[in-house]
Amino acid sequence: MSTHPVVKWIDERLPVFTFLNHELRDYPTPRNLNYWWSFGSIAGIVLVVLIGTGVMLAMQYTPHVNYAFDSVERIMRDVNYGWLLRYLHSNGVSMFFIAVYIHLFRGLYFGSYKSPREILWAMGVIILLLMMATAFMGYVLPWGQMSFWGATVITNLFSAIPLVGEEIVNWLWGGYSIGNPTLTRFYALHYLFPFLIFAVVFLHLVALHTVKSNNPLGIDATGPQDTIPFHPYYTAKDFFGFGVFFLVYLGFVFYAPDFFGEPDNYIPANPLATPPHIVPEWYFLPFYAILRAVPDVEVFGFVLITAKLAGVILMFGSILILFFLPWLDFSKVRSSRFRPIFKQFFWIFFADCLLLGWVGANPPEGFFVILGRIGTAFYFAYFIVIIPLIAYFEKPRPLPESISAAVLGGKEEGKS
Ligand code: HEM
Repeated sequence: MSTHPVVKWIDERLPVFTFLNHELRDYPTPRNLNYWWSFGSIAGIVLVVLIGTGVMLAMQYTPHVNYAFDSVERIMRDVNYGWLLRYLHSNGVSMFFIAVYIHLFRGLYFGSYKSPREILWAMGVIILLLMMATAFMGYVLPWGQMSFWGATVITNLFSAIPLVGEEIVNWLWGGYSIGNPTLTRFYALHYLFPFLIFAVVFLHLVALHTVKSNNPLGIDATGPQDTIPFHPYYTAKDFFGFGVFFLVYLGFVFYAPDFFGEPDNYIPANPLATPPHIVPEWYFLPFYAILRAVPDVEVFGFVLITAKLAGVILMFGSILILFFLPWLDFSKVRSSRFRPIFKQFFWIFFADCLLLGWVGANPPEGFFVILGRIGTAFYFAYFIVIIPLIAYFEKPRPLPESISAAVLGGKEEGKS
């Protein structure tokens, strides 16, 4: 830490420098982290960009059904660099989901959810749920056709809840249809939620620094020979990662700003004209496929659970099941590098998520109905049946003695 008298003076009264030194500089980090470990920090930086651009957009946006669409057009055309703010924000959401999905699949592959990181993982799942709610409400704000109809479809899902469903939907809308009260409450919550995400990310990091990072070998550090200080090694590595990631991000912003967007959202919302295909943004597509996958559940011709209710339960269940993963996968070995069967099923699961995404982007007809059902069945089977069975029957490969033995030993041990 700097010995500058001003730094010392502040630190004696508020030990921010001691804290930063401890948590960001000397912080012992496994010496073998690869670039997949940069995505947590990348997600954090994108979150800051989203909050920064969002606050500035809010200074020009008008949350009223009669003005919202035009105020966004004004931002794009008349506000200085308004187009840049908006494209950084709208593409930033996609980049945020890309970073977080990579981060999540990294965790799945290397078993980062296992003891002692269960709470760290659970915080991540809470962040994911909050991100989804925030992105959904943000998409409604420009009040285009997809904003309006997407909100109609998704809020209507709650009507599937028996007895109180209709009341819940009216309560969410603030009236008997999607309208101005819906837009203003979505705006208020869309502004609030990113700060909640920020708070949960803070707890996520507190948990991380308590239990320390996992690593590609999935074994614990046994001593100082297995770790290196976070700064300058991982600050440098992470900054290189940001650089590459931001080139891609800015590539979209400047050269293909509507790549992730939906052309129908450039048409003002019209409650009297339903678009032919209502599709959510790409990051919701697998969940949308799960929502539409199941038919009515009938017993002797009597509909026990409607397709809509079953779809809603499965869609929420597909995320909530992640909370239980640390206990469903009770294998003691973390990293897939030493779990040959787990590794193969991990990649099948990954392909299944892509398949569900493709199904979600298409109308639920013919071939896609079958694919959606197979994909959904596999999704749940993976967590509930396959993972526990593998944990029970698989014979893992021998683990290296220590991180330093594996990386310095010159052996190919531990390479996947
Ligand atoms: C706003 C979103 C998020 C941010 C900013 C964030 C941030 C971070 C950071 C900076 C790290 C340490 C670096 C790294 O391991 O990559 C980390 C680790 C971790 N995160 Fe996240 N995270 C987010 C979302 C999630 C989600 C959605 C999950 C899972 C559901 C998750 C699970 C984990 C786990 C298990 C670790 C420990 C990884 C390890 O040590 O191997 N995170 N997170």
